[in-house]
Amino acid sequence: MIKPNKLAKNNFLSSLDLSTDEVLHILDLANNFKNKKLNIDLSNKVLGLIFDKSSTRTRVSFQVAMTRLGGTTIDLNPSTSQIGRGEPIKDTARVLSRYCDVIAIRTFDHLDLEEYAKWSTKPVINALTDLEHPCQALADFLTIKEEFLNFKDVVLTFIGDGNNVANSLILCGALLGVEVRIACPKGYCPNPLFIKKAREIYKNENMLRITNDPYTAVSGANVLYTDVWSSMGQENQKEEKDKVFNGFTLDSDLVGKADQDAIILHCLPAYRDKEITDKVFESKKSRIFEQAENRMHAQQALLSCLLS
Ligand code: CP
Ligand code: NVA
Repeated sequence: MIKPNKLAKNNFLSSLDLSTDEVLHILDLANNFKNKKLNIDLSNKVLGLIFDKSSTRTRVSFQVAMTRLGGTTIDLNPSTSQIGRGEPIKDTARVLSRYCDVIAIRTFDHLDLEEYAKWSTKPVINALTDLEHPCQALADFLTIKEEFLNFKDVVLTFIGDGNNVANSLILCGALLGVEVRIACPKGYCPNPLFIKKAREIYKNENMLRITNDPYTAVSGANVLYTDVWSSMGQENQKEEKDKVFNGFTLDSDLVGKADQDAIILHCLPAYRDKEITDKVFESKKSRIFEQAENRMHAQQALLSCLLS
């Protein structure tokens, strides 16, 4: 029977903290958890959750994942703890690592997450920063693997803002050898260092394409993925971004240019008739709610490895 292996790195701050084999191992474990073929006991283990931004899926899927493993979670509300009053991260991290066995953090600046990891003596998980959303990418590729059984010849097209979700897709896609195409407006491209890093991992420039034309990007693709145009923390840019992203809505026209068996993914929350039409969102091709469920299975797998 498959067992969780210890990961080479103590933290999961970036998709790049895992090797290809480790991603495949986590996806394998997640599949076993999902099919109730694996029972791991993490009783007495405590996951601390810090959310400086809102969350439904990440918060609840971590809570349920930990409960299913026999452990518990503490959801630290920044506004009712000293975190919101400005206690230094290095102090909070040192205190929490004396109570908790692992800490998942959602915050704005990725450097703040790294500061937690620097001072914590327990594993730190990225539950989303402005730069990356690596837990989301694990669930995304689990959903893709369920659909296509392996990653060979799968083309994943992301249409939207090249920020956290796109960045993690690029990196995890490179580790798994999945061809990734990003269609974004000018000025909203993914992180250039990640593009460079992904191309080094692929050892093939053509496996990652960045374009400003959604039609070129979706042509023949197997997975069409989109995300909100205005991310958390960008509420004041909404009007401007709605204008800039005009033409980047995932609609039936774009879907018609993809492979006929293409599936639709969205990390959620979704804004209908902005980044995706209701028709596409609700279509038979959508695997959006499988993807949301997979957050929980992938995180059960991740937690089992980090705490093994
Ligand atoms: N996809 C995702 O991370 O959702 P939440 O913001 O609800 O956690
Ligand atoms: N890019 C989005 C992802 C939400 C899960 C955001 O940062 O708000």
